[in-house]
Amino acid sequence: MITAGQNIETADPTNIVIFGAAGDLTKRKLMPALVRMIDCGLVHTDSRILGVVNNRTEEVWLSLIHDGLQEYSPHLNMNEQRWAEFSSRLNMVPGDLGDDETYGRLAEALETLGGKKNAMFYCAIPPDWYGRVANGLERVGLVEESDGYRRLVIEKPFGMNLESARELNEELQSVFNEKQIYRIDHYLGKESVQNLLVYRFANSIMEPLWNRNYIDHIQISVAETLGIEYRAKYYDHSGALRDMIQSHLMQMMTLVAMEPPVEFTADAVRDEKMKVLRAVRRFDPGQVKDQTVAAQYASGVIDGVKELAYVAEEGVSPDSVTETFAAVRFYIDNWRWQGVPFILWSGKRLQKRVSEVMIRFRKPPFNLFDSHASIPAPNALVFRLQPDEGVVLRLNAKKPGLTTDNEEMVMRAPYGADASEVGDAYEVLMHDVLTGDGTLFSRSDEVEESWEIIEPILQAWEDRVSIERYRAGTWDIAAMDTLASDCACGWHKPS
Ligand code: BG6
Repeated sequence: MITAGQNIETADPTNIVIFGAAGDLTKRKLMPALVRMIDCGLVHTDSRILGVVNNRTEEVWLSLIHDGLQEYSPHLNMNEQRWAEFSSRLNMVPGDLGDDETYGRLAEALETLGGKKNAMFYCAIPPDWYGRVANGLERVGLVEESDGYRRLVIEKPFGMNLESARELNEELQSVFNEKQIYRIDHYLGKESVQNLLVYRFANSIMEPLWNRNYIDHIQISVAETLGIEYRAKYYDHSGALRDMIQSHLMQMMTLVAMEPPVEFTADAVRDEKMKVLRAVRRFDPGQVKDQTVAAQYASGVIDGVKELAYVAEEGVSPDSVTETFAAVRFYIDNWRWQGVPFILWSGKRLQKRVSEVMIRFRKPPFNLFDSHASIPAPNALVFRLQPDEGVVLRLNAKKPGLTTDNEEMVMRAPYGADASEVGDAYEVLMHDVLTGDGTLFSRSDEVEESWEIIEPILQAWEDRVSIERYRAGTWDIAAMDTLASDCACGWHKPS
């Protein structure tokens, strides 16, 4: 977590404009992050937060934000005095996003407040509205950067396939230039994900091992116990491949696989990530079946609570074959990674909530200790991204006593003294937008390239009429064992 007193840059005064300011993302993530950022002095005291809200009075909106902070972020201790300070920075602009007058009102409000200076426009709204908002802002002169910067922040999904991703990019780039657009992938804002880069590029012992000569395969996983919650409408059209693999997991794969950038700047890092994507082997439609897994949760029990099957969730059609679990086996055809499988998988209602990057090293070439009882296991380096952030190294060591038998020894390095030190991605990412650092945001070419890679999978899955089912609260997905059968130690289910 960013804490007061750290050596961090306070951003210039900025008008932080949130479209969808009464929505869930605003209540759960954006407002708590802004409270923390203000606490830590990351937001300039002259900055204002403007919520664009429809069909509510300012009073109702403020109490909604207040209640949201109490409900979702009790740790912020939003008592009367703190709320009075925070709410004095909030203003509401009423209006419908489809109505040109709303943007006129916004321009006026900005003029009155801060003389149209720097502005960050955060779209916490469904993606179909991004283009409309961009055009609305342009019409009232809020895109040009003559009297301060103007930055547009959007959340995934950036399209639902290659074609729609291109259309969205074109639409936004016809209004904003690419450097003004910040595409959030909140996984890249997680400290533990950034720590992966520091581990790779601040330790000289990593680099010699980080290639096909020593690594058998890599698994990148996000397992969730949550279901789809209130998002059936979006999720049933999206599925786990679009929702998680195309975005968060492929982004993490680029960080794991990329070459050292020449400098830690937005374009240098993104150029390297882009090279990885360009080297990802394209899927032949005929091979998709052998390189992927799709499955859907059936009913089951998690932490003693009986959970419904996906098809019984509110808003999901009973004959839906949308995948709530997806896995893809990628190859990166370059010198470093030739022949090394990257297995990316993610699913909902699994046994445990855990995200990891696991680097599995090759088996020792020869078993010197002639013991059938204990053939040394291939080593593994595991980056635990959440929860219990940290790094785990699995080595083999001698069992105590008159024997050369070995057993696994686990070296754990927790990240941060305790979980409360690991901050929320939105604090990091919003601060980056305010200070103009695009390193942790996806560039348009990365987004399009990753859609292009998975397009054959989307097409092959389109005509699916049935899907493998797994019991909620389990890892019972037999196809995963097949997908990883030739990898050292097979499918790694996080423990
Ligand atoms: C979102 C997905 O991008 O990430 C959700 O749309 C998913 O389906 C979420 O649950 C996971 O994020 P986190 O930070 O909770 O691991």
